[in-house]
Amino acid sequence: MYHDFNYQATLASSLRAQWQLDDVLRPDQDLDFSRNMMPESLARTAELDSLNPFEQRVFNQISAHQYLSIFGVVEEFILPFLIDHARPHLLGDDWRVRAILNFASEEAKHIHLFNRYREAFERGFPIACQMLGPREVLAQRVLSHHPLAVGLIILMIEWMTQAHYVGSIRDDSDIDPLFKSLFKHHWMEEAQHAKLDTLIVDALAEGRSERELAQVTNEFFQIAGFLDKSLQVQARFNVESLERGLGRTIDGRDALIVQQYRAARWTYLISGLTHDRFKATLEASSPKMAARVAAALTPRQPQVAA
Ligand SMILES: [Fe+2]
Ligand SMILES: [Fe+2]
Repeated sequence: MYHDFNYQATLASSLRAQWQLDDVLRPDQDLDFSRNMMPESLARTAELDSLNPFEQRVFNQISAHQYLSIFGVVEEFILPFLIDHARPHLLGDDWRVRAILNFASEEAKHIHLFNRYREAFERGFPIACQMLGPREVLAQRVLSHHPLAVGLIILMIEWMTQAHYVGSIRDDSDIDPLFKSLFKHHWMEEAQHAKLDTLIVDALAEGRSERELAQVTNEFFQIAGFLDKSLQVQARFNVESLERGLGRTIDGRDALIVQQYRAARWTYLISGLTHDRFKATLEASSPKMAARVAAALTPRQPQVAA
């Protein structure tokens, strides 16, 4: 076995790591808009010569709003996926049922958490940030695919939140402590979700034919490609939101859109796709699928979509 995860131990760790929403952000708490909110390793706004330091910070905050919104969408497809997966197993192993339902309950709490942060953000930020949506439509688009492909996308997301937390620690100089707390608390529970989702993916992959796994790989690429395209559109929205806020067109705006798209691509796709644990699950599910994903990530083929 390529891992030693099991439902009983992971449930126990999850229950120990659990926190309450108000411990992270109370409904009346305000964010600190005098500081950055996203780690620089993810937002990559401090390197932009076309913006002065104040504008870089505003753009970093637009990137933070993007983070809250994207995780709002992501959590929205994780929750029904888990409920669907739990239902056929309700009469099975007790630890498994409890671990998956607890996982679902934590993701429902994360939806609430990201909504609460977004409300606090929108209360204090003077620019209306344009976002892709509606969330339910985007989530439904992902859920329309093969459950194993969806499970793998979710696993990729669970592991990527680790990289986000590490980034928030490393770049801790100027980040709003409430955002740092968001990354930390999300990561605490996601660390257990990643183990459970590994077990879910293992179960979904078991006994599939090569033909079916090839189709799953195609669908995995379709979802990743859809997410990738969405990030590209969102990068343009972010630049347009900044321009609206500043009341001017930014020099080199097209290059800026590309630079921000690349930053988002790293944050929301590549940091998960290249995570060793994620690659190990891909390899165990299907070596051919792992090889196709690795090939899509080589510099010669920079597009994630097949
Ligand atoms: Fe989550
Ligand atoms: Fe999660």
